[in-house]
Amino acid sequence: MSPEMTETEIQKVRQGIKEKYDRVAAAGAGDCFQFPTGKAGMEIQGYSQELIKNFPPEVLADFCGVGNPFSLGHLNPGDAVLDIGCGAGVDSLVAAHLVGAGGRVVGLDVTAAMVERARASLARLGLVNVTFQVGEAEALPFPDAAFDALISNGVFNLTLNKDKALKEAHRVLKPGGRLMLADMVLVAALPPDQAGKVENWFQ
Ligand SMILES: C[S@@+](CC[C@H](N)C(=O)[O-])C[C@H]1O[C@@H](n2cnc3c(N)ncnc32)[C@H](O)[C@@H]1O
Repeated sequence: MSPEMTETEIQKVRQGIKEKYDRVAAAGAGDCFQFPTGKAGMEIQGYSQELIKNFPPEVLADFCGVGNPFSLGHLNPGDAVLDIGCGAGVDSLVAAHLVGAGGRVVGLDVTAAMVERARASLARLGLVNVTFQVGEAEALPFPDAAFDALISNGVFNLTLNKDKALKEAHRVLKPGGRLMLADMVLVAALPPDQAGKVENWFQ
């Protein structure tokens, strides 16, 4: 969290994230982002056709990641995996496919409507090694050393307290576990005024 943010500004960012992802959950990812989403986004980010072909178009359409966590490391059959900020759950479902019946995947997201959308995709696919739940990256509702690997795609840039979110990620990873995190980086200056910075957070 930026030390100069007031409580009002923090609440404004929280509300902005909730409203944006309520809209995405209701309308689908298609018209809500300035970057490619859905199957086209996955192809641009280098998800293999071997993976993509396992999922129906309606499920793939919900992808709104900004990179490809699976390009950063491997998941093993039998792994326990947490997807932080799973959104509508496309990466969680990909991970479930990779860890197989002996593994398990938890998708966690702060926006309840996105979790509902992920559960709808899960029901469509009938996988039994994935669950979805509501929760925050900054306060993960899991014991220490619960997961072999963490994936996350386009989420840490949105968190209000990045130090806390990273400490939580480290806490729930087993020793030697892997954090495979894709996100955006800032390449241009933010608006100079504080109100502009707050507005920019969740665009
Ligand atoms: C750009 S979307 C990415 C969704 C998904 N990872 C994907 O690749 O399709 C960002 C997601 O992060 C979630 N999010 C934002 N802040 C969060 C936080 N502090 N903790 C958990 N999830 C968060 C939003 O609700 C939204 O679903």
